[in-house]
Amino acid sequence: MDFSLRHCVVVVLPFLLLLCKTTSTSDSHHHGLKSLHFTLFQHETINKTGYIIVNGVAGPGVSQNTTPFGTLFVFQDPLTVTANRSSKLVGIGEGTSITSSLDGLQSISIAKITLRMKRHVGSISIVGGTHNIKPSDHPVVGGTGDFMFVQGYVTSSPLDLQGQTVVYKIEFHLYWPPYAVKKPSS
Ligand SMILES: *[C@@H]1O[C@H](CO)[C@@H](O)[C@H](O)[C@H]1NC(C)=O
Ligand SMILES: *[C@@H]1O[C@H](CO)[C@@H](O)[C@H](O)[C@H]1NC(C)=O
Repeated sequence: MDFSLRHCVVVVLPFLLLLCKTTSTSDSHHHGLKSLHFTLFQHETINKTGYIIVNGVAGPGVSQNTTPFGTLFVFQDPLTVTANRSSKLVGIGEGTSITSSLDGLQSISIAKITLRMKRHVGSISIVGGTHNIKPSDHPVVGGTGDFMFVQGYVTSSPLDLQGQTVVYKIEFHLYWPPYAVKKPSS
């Protein structure tokens, strides 16, 4: 008698816990996902903040818009709040891209973007395809610090392809899943 009663409690409790968890998860959905949308500008200077490390093997040569298939490029570029390089520096983009189309126009890019903004400090990691002369969406695969568990995408658009320094407009569309939202640290 005693045993079967205890057994009953043990069986029921996990269900109650499950019920509580389910309720709190759907509750945070009611308030919508935490999201953040902002734009920064990336400045890349050939042979200063970005270098060809391995030469490509086929297709068009190195030009303002193209690099040969297989070219390995590495960069560490400043990110500012306006297209003017003298504007406030709020981030650094570090990464690599490998020319992956035979016409020399597209590459696979991997980057870590470290951000130091007023209310968000940390990094986000992105990976995806980049087109040299058209806007490209890069999925966000995660982050650190205030960007821990972040999802979304980053759109990179070439703004100014002339001259030594190329400027890209970088639009961030970030979403925090319910389990990642924490109270802001003081
Ligand atoms: C960058 O450096 C490489 C190797 O020294 C050189 O061949 C290339 O012309 C340079 N590019 C520019 C745009 O200065
Ligand atoms: C960029 O910003 C600097 C410093 O604020 C300013 O002197 C300069 O005129 C700006 N350049 C352009 C093209 O707006």
